[in-house]
Amino acid sequence: MTMKIYIIPQPEGFTFSEKKAFKLTRLCEFFNQNGTEKASEELKEFISDNFGFELSGTGKEKISLLIDESLTEAESYTLDVTENLVEIKGADEAGVFYGVQSLKQIFYQCGEELPEIHITDKPAYPYRGFMLDSGRYFFPKEDVKKFIDIMALHKLNRFHWHLTEDQGWRAQMLDNILLTEIGSYRSHTNFNNKPHGGYYTKEDMKEVVEYAHKKCIKVIPEIDTPGHTVSAIAAYPHLSCFDRNLSVATHCGVKHDVVCAGKESTYEFMFSVFDELLEVFTDGLIHIGGDEVPTTRWKICPHCQQRIKDEGLSCTEDLHPYYLSRLAEHIEAKGSKVIMWNDTVRDYMAKGSIVRQLWDEEMSEKDVVGQINKGTEFIISFVNAYYLDLPYGRTSLEKCYNYNPCYKGISKEQESKLLGVEACLWTEFVPTMKKAGYQMFPRLGAYSETAWTSKENKSFDYFSEKLDFYEDLVSSLGMNYATKKQSMPKGIKKLASMLYWERRQLCWQGLHNLIDNASVERKHKGEENK
Ligand code: ACM
Ligand code: ZN
Repeated sequence: MTMKIYIIPQPEGFTFSEKKAFKLTRLCEFFNQNGTEKASEELKEFISDNFGFELSGTGKEKISLLIDESLTEAESYTLDVTENLVEIKGADEAGVFYGVQSLKQIFYQCGEELPEIHITDKPAYPYRGFMLDSGRYFFPKEDVKKFIDIMALHKLNRFHWHLTEDQGWRAQMLDNILLTEIGSYRSHTNFNNKPHGGYYTKEDMKEVVEYAHKKCIKVIPEIDTPGHTVSAIAAYPHLSCFDRNLSVATHCGVKHDVVCAGKESTYEFMFSVFDELLEVFTDGLIHIGGDEVPTTRWKICPHCQQRIKDEGLSCTEDLHPYYLSRLAEHIEAKGSKVIMWNDTVRDYMAKGSIVRQLWDEEMSEKDVVGQINKGTEFIISFVNAYYLDLPYGRTSLEKCYNYNPCYKGISKEQESKLLGVEACLWTEFVPTMKKAGYQMFPRLGAYSETAWTSKENKSFDYFSEKLDFYEDLVSSLGMNYATKKQSMPKGIKKLASMLYWERRQLCWQGLHNLIDNASVERKHKGEENK
C-alpha cells in the first residue's frame, strides 16, 4: 500500500518518498539559530511529551531550525527531511514555528522514522483569526490555553477574545471593580437553569497573553459596546439611559438597554476601561464591538437627545458612529489599531481607520463597498460560513470548507484590503469543552484551509480523505469532534439539527424584553410630554 502523510492546513507544496531518511533518537543533535526560540521550545516539548526523551546532541542525526532571509513572504517556511537531517527554514520566527507545526503532524503519523520530505509553504492571509466568546460561558484560563494550542496547530495567528457580554463581564478592571464583582454572575442560564459566573484577573489575562505570544499568536481583546452591555449596567446603573437597575442577562437576544451615549460620564468610564485593558493587552489591536445596537432608549433619553443637538448630529442613529469614533480616537491615540463589527457601516460612518469585521452578509452591500473604497481594511467572519456554534444542518463541513471569503461587488483591487478571515465560537449554547469540540471539529480544520491554503490548492475531496487522520489528531489533544456523518447531516437529521437550534427563539425572556421595553417607553415618553 502506498504511504500517506497528511497535513492540515494543506501546505503549498508537499512531496515525500517511501525512502526512510531520518530516525529520531535521544542522540539526535538539535540546533536552533537565534530568533527561533518559540519554535525550538514547541518542538522540544512535543518530543518530550510524545517520545519521552530530551535530545542530547551527539549522534549523526540532526534537527536544524533556521531563519532564511531569501524567503521573502512573511510567515513562510520550508521543511526538508533528507538523509539524517530535518531542516526547517523560516522567513521569520513565525515561519519556523509553522514548520514545526507541520513536523509535529508528520511525527504524529510516522512515529520516529521519517521518509524524505520536501515542503514549501506560506499563508493565504496575514490575519487568521479565531474568536472565543467567554462572555456567555466562562472558560477557565487552562481551557483558554487549550484553544490557543489548537490555534497554533492550525497555523492561526490572531486570538480574538470576546470578554464582555450582556450575560457576563469577564475582564477584571481594578478601577471599576463591580464590573466583575457583580457583572460576572448570572442567576441562571438558557435552558439548563443553573447559576453561572467567573472572571479573569489581570494576572490571568497577562498569563494568557504571554502564552499566546509563545505560540506566535497576537491577542485582540474585545469589550463589546455600546450594545451587549447589560452586565456592565447591572454593576453600574448610571451607564444606562434612565439609570436602570438591571440584573445580568440570563438569556440570549439583542437587548434594548445599551449604554447611554449622551452622558459624558459614559465616555469617561469607557476610556478608563480601555486604558486598563491596554495595560494588559499589548499587541496593538483592540476590538470595541459595536454590533447590534438598538436605538430605542437613545430616542427617548434626554441626555442622548441633548448630545445629538450639541454635536450637530442629524439623527439618533448617528450617535452610534459618534460614540464609536470617540472610543476609537482615544484608543488610537495610545497607539493601538481598532477593530469593530460591521454594523452600520455607512458612508457617514465612523473613522475609516477602524478595521471592519464583516459578520452579517446581508448588511448593505453598497455601504460596505463604499467604506472599503475609502481604504477601510476588513476581515470576513460571515455567520453562515464561520460561526462554529451554528448547527451542522445549517453550516455543513462542506459549506464551511468551500466558502469563498469575499464580498459581492468588491473589485480585485479592493480585495487587498481584506486582511483575512476569522472563525467565531459564540457560546450561548456551548457551555463545556466537550460541546466546543463537537462544534469546532472538523469545521476548524476546514476553515484553517481557507485561512492558510491558497485557493488553487484547496480540495474538499482531498480534505475529506484526511478526516480519519484529523479525528485522531484532535482526539490526541483530548478534544471531542463531530464525525463526518454528523458534520454533514442529510434529510431528517439536517432538519432536526436546525429545529433544535431554533429552540432559542422559544424563551420567556424574549417576551419579557418586549413587555419591559413597552413599560420604559410608556413611562419616559409620558414624562417627556408633561
Ligand atoms: C455578532 O454576531 N453580533 C457579531
Ligand atoms: Zn441616553
